[in-house]
Amino acid sequence: MHFRYGPVFRTSLIGLPVVVSTDPELNRFVFQQEGRLFESWYPETFTEIFGRSNVGSLHGFMYKYLKSLVLKLFGPESLKDLLLRDVETAACANLSSWSRLSSIELKEATSNMIFDLTAKKLISYESSSSSESLRKNFVAFIRGLISYPVDLPGTAYYQCMQGRKNVMKVLKNMLKERRNSPRKQHGDFFDSLIEELNKERSLITETIALDLMFVLLFASFETTSLALTLAIKLLTDHPNVLEKLTEEHDTIIKNREDPLSGVTWMEYRSMTFTFQVITETARLANIVPGIFRKALKDIQINGYTIPSGWRVMVCPPAVHLNPEIYKDPLTFDPWRWKERPELNGGSKHFMAFGGGMRFCVGTEFTKLQMAIFLHCLVTKYRWRAIRGGNIVRTPGLGFPDGYHIQLFPKA
Ligand code: HEM
Ligand SMILES: *[C@@H]1O[C@H](CO)[C@@H](O)[C@H](O)[C@H]1NC(C)=O
Repeated sequence: MHFRYGPVFRTSLIGLPVVVSTDPELNRFVFQQEGRLFESWYPETFTEIFGRSNVGSLHGFMYKYLKSLVLKLFGPESLKDLLLRDVETAACANLSSWSRLSSIELKEATSNMIFDLTAKKLISYESSSSSESLRKNFVAFIRGLISYPVDLPGTAYYQCMQGRKNVMKVLKNMLKERRNSPRKQHGDFFDSLIEELNKERSLITETIALDLMFVLLFASFETTSLALTLAIKLLTDHPNVLEKLTEEHDTIIKNREDPLSGVTWMEYRSMTFTFQVITETARLANIVPGIFRKALKDIQINGYTIPSGWRVMVCPPAVHLNPEIYKDPLTFDPWRWKERPELNGGSKHFMAFGGGMRFCVGTEFTKLQMAIFLHCLVTKYRWRAIRGGNIVRTPGLGFPDGYHIQLFPKA
């Protein structure tokens, strides 16, 4: 750290000058100026790891085009018509099978459930009937993600790249097979990508399609399971919150005309307190500890100059844990969201899902998965923490010894 200007300071990262911003005004400016004064940028190792053509590093026109493809799968229509039912079925079935065990580790269990669900939607992947475990390769990949880039056998970085290679091999073979038998439709996201690829003067290439698939599989499985595990840990530690949450969900079931029907879209939209719990969990989780951009021009703001070409790191935890913005910032208090409009999107005070044009496209899908899982959990089960639950920041959120609980069906 060299020069400090209150909430904004300069440092360097792998030899590049970086302005670290914990200033809500500068953060908002950075998000608003996406594509004009700033563009998305991630450190070289990230780019290598995620592929050069991934959504995060594609700009302008191409980027908007890919985003609209992704929204076909995770946008509101699909959530309402397809995903709500699928998520509920998965959550209920998984919880029921876990309740027959004397102990389950939540992070691992929810990762499995979410990966299986998303991989089915994206590539019709069935973990039970496949010889290669895609998920295992993702685990190796994630372990090495924040490691020093030395590509020698045995290092975490090596295993990370190996994990990526294996996943890409599976995806590539799948793509080849499908392009060889174009008649067969699977009804998944891969079908729509291939349809785009086959168009005359297609805008995407095979590399872009495969990198996009990789990013989506990765983004969907690690983030939501961390948030869900933290939510359940926080509920365990705050019985008053759990009680209020349970009341909200019991009321939904009590008012239901057909007690055997699943959660309706209307019911889902009415889970007000649940959304407060989810937002408060996301604030404390800080799953994405840094959001990176690159300045495209010399930029003057609030008396400082950011020279063209410099990187900016927006630092969400510094905003989310700022006592001037959140009273008792370390306290888990879902009620604090009652009067705040951020509940439905980002703001300069809430950026767990980013902000501006690059606001996370998976936000609504994540919220739906968390809300529906919590619905099944609190209406049907009680639970007891057995061990683990310790949290580390490396700098991302992690549970080094997991979080082990035992579930008991409610009478
Ligand atoms: C708790 C869960 C999640 C958190 C905290 C989270 C957080 C974020 C953040 C902070 C960004 C902005 C990155 C930037 O501006 O550079 C982002 C972007 C993105 N997220 Fe998420 N995310 C979550 C879940 C998901 C899920 C479930 C998916 C996929 C289904 C997903 C897909 C994406 C994609 C594709 C982008 C890139 C969008 C773009 O560049 O415009 N995320 N996410
Ligand atoms: C858990 O959910 C996933 C995702 O839908 C599903 O593939 C899997 O069969 C479920 N597991 C159990 C034991 O129900």
